[in-house]
Amino acid sequence: MLRSKEGTALNKTNTTLTGPRSVPAWLVISLIVVGCGAPEVAPGPTGPAGPADETAVAATSPQASAPVGLALAGDPQRGGQLYDTWWAVTEAEAPTTDHPLWATQSTNTRGGADTWRCKECHGWDYKGADGAYGSGSHLTGFTGVLASAAKPAEEILAAMNGGTNADHDFSAVMGEQELADLSQFVTQSLIDDKALIDDKKASTGNPADGRTRYEETCASCHGPGGNAINFGSIGEPEFLGHVAPDNPWEFVHKVRFGQPGWPMPSAIANDWAESDVADVLAYAQTLDTEPAVSGGAQLYDTWWAVTGAAAPTTEQPLWATQTTNTRGGEETWRCKECHGWDYKGADGAYGSGSHLTGFTGVLGAASLTPDAILAWLDGRTNAKHDFSTVMVPAELNALATFVQKETADVTSLVGADGKSVGDPVVGREIFDGTCAACHGKDGKKRNFGDDKEPEYVGTIAVDNPPEFLHKAQFGQPGEPMPAGKALGWTSQDLADLLAYAQTLPTE
Ligand code: HEC
Ligand code: HEC
Ligand code: HEC
Ligand code: HEC
Repeated sequence: MLRSKEGTALNKTNTTLTGPRSVPAWLVISLIVVGCGAPEVAPGPTGPAGPADETAVAATSPQASAPVGLALAGDPQRGGQLYDTWWAVTEAEAPTTDHPLWATQSTNTRGGADTWRCKECHGWDYKGADGAYGSGSHLTGFTGVLASAAKPAEEILAAMNGGTNADHDFSAVMGEQELADLSQFVTQSLIDDKALIDDKKASTGNPADGRTRYEETCASCHGPGGNAINFGSIGEPEFLGHVAPDNPWEFVHKVRFGQPGWPMPSAIANDWAESDVADVLAYAQTLDTEPAVSGGAQLYDTWWAVTGAAAPTTEQPLWATQTTNTRGGEETWRCKECHGWDYKGADGAYGSGSHLTGFTGVLGAASLTPDAILAWLDGRTNAKHDFSTVMVPAELNALATFVQKETADVTSLVGADGKSVGDPVVGREIFDGTCAACHGKDGKKRNFGDDKEPEYVGTIAVDNPPEFLHKAQFGQPGEPMPAGKALGWTSQDLADLLAYAQTLPTE
């Protein structure tokens, strides 16, 4: 789920620290990188933090003229994200082999990229075998890093460079800047979660205060019920209401440092007290674990992006029964290609133009029984309309729920001129509150097309309002984009959002 990366406002070097010790910022932001010869600029993979900027900061900081080696400012908040999943921060490829130290244990049977995450060996609670990873499938027996917080940052840096154990050398996969960030993280930002989380994994915080904070900071993406972004699958959904009680240590780490690769706010960057984090945890432990939407809509869009299957290479058997739409291959397997973004098939937008197939829509099928819809999806009604070979029953059920309960005729939201009937001024608030974090205030931060033919949120809103409305309500397949339906939007909200999005740049 970490395919796309964001350069975010997480790059502050002078982060105010809420770590165990309180040290003047000027003292903690610089660190001497030992054991490095030529003063080259941070090599290797560099993340969105832009090491050039950080180096510039170091050059003007009090330690810049330090006689030993190269002085680099470390950002402990970025270090915390590197500790979670460093390649999502540096935008490097995820490792495919096992970490060299992995073979020295046999109890944790994971392999590949997971074995390279600091958290997999040292724990979300920083206590390794002395904490939550002291039993269960994550047990490795490896030590924690909490005790290292008392050491000088130079010593931690040396350990990251393989100075204490050659197999603990991360300098081949991360640059000097990243190792400096990690060293600052270990020495400045670790906390003992014991004050926040009791023996039964319950938060010691106040859920009522947490609710206020949650609604201000988290609900715009995760939804009021915490179920607008699914971290799991359709068959086994995972929402904030699962993570907070099951793994409160992970929850606390992510809330403090942010989610690697995504513009999720960081409690540290926002100067929250640790008790504020505990409050949000307390509230999140009461959130829904039931999905707000079935997930079928994303399957209707591009099912293989959700299921993780390979995209089909042949043509869907029914495709040969029409000749007007000349697309081929995977496109012919998308429900939307035959039944339309407006769910009306030949009676809607796909009634003319290059997408015309003449196939019917699915809006009428809402009146069928769930089993009659399933009979369409698993080929019992028409053997050429069989999707049970490419999707599991939970996915087919989600599609049936979508067809029966979640489709709606949205044509009334758009006038004959293709313009939304909504109010762009109200829509702007929705866009700025939820969409802008990932798509930018002008909707141009993500280009869905290419350099030659760029496609932005504004482009889709103008060119294809039904597609925009589908994605805004249900999210983007395979990406953790919030589902508007789970944010509690009415159709008026949707129309307003569309109206504003239609004012955004299209190229
Ligand atoms: C595959 C497991 C594994 C991974 C991944 C891993 N470590 Fe370690 N780490 C260990 C082991 C084992 C030790 C201790 C023993 C040693 O040095 O021989 C250790 C020791 C440490 C120490 C203590 C060093 C000291 O001298 O005080 C720190 C700090 C540390 N690791 C930080 C990290 C950070 C940060 C990352 C992520 C970049 C990381 N580790 C990734 C296994 C791992
Ligand atoms: C700008 C949108 C945004 C905001 C605001 C936001 N998050 Fe997130 N959050 C995300 C995204 C995106 C992910 C990554 C999901 C993925 O990779 O599947 C995520 C992941 C998480 C995870 C990790 C879940 C897991 O197990 O992988 C937690 C915990 C979390 N968020 C909590 C919060 C809390 C608490 C707040 C408020 C303090 C918050 N988030 C605010 C977008 C956001
Ligand atoms: C290659 C084109 C094509 C694809 C892809 C396709 N369908 Fe169909 N679908 C049809 C045709 C043709 C019919 C039959 C219409 C008829 O005979 O009345 C149909 C019928 C249906 C019906 C019954 C409609 C009714 O009113 O009785 C439903 C529901 C349905 N499809 C859902 C889906 C879903 C969900 C997907 C994606 C998993 C999907 N279809 C993918 C072509 C397609
Ligand atoms: C947590 C980040 C996040 C948030 C918040 C978010 N999106 Fe997205 N959105 C994405 C990602 C990732 C994609 C995939 C496109 C890409 O490859 O960049 C996407 C894709 C889209 C697309 C379709 C692109 C295509 O392939 O055709 C539309 C339309 C869209 N978003 C609209 C919105 C709107 C409207 C909102 C606010 C209601 C929103 N998004 C909020 C991350 C987000």
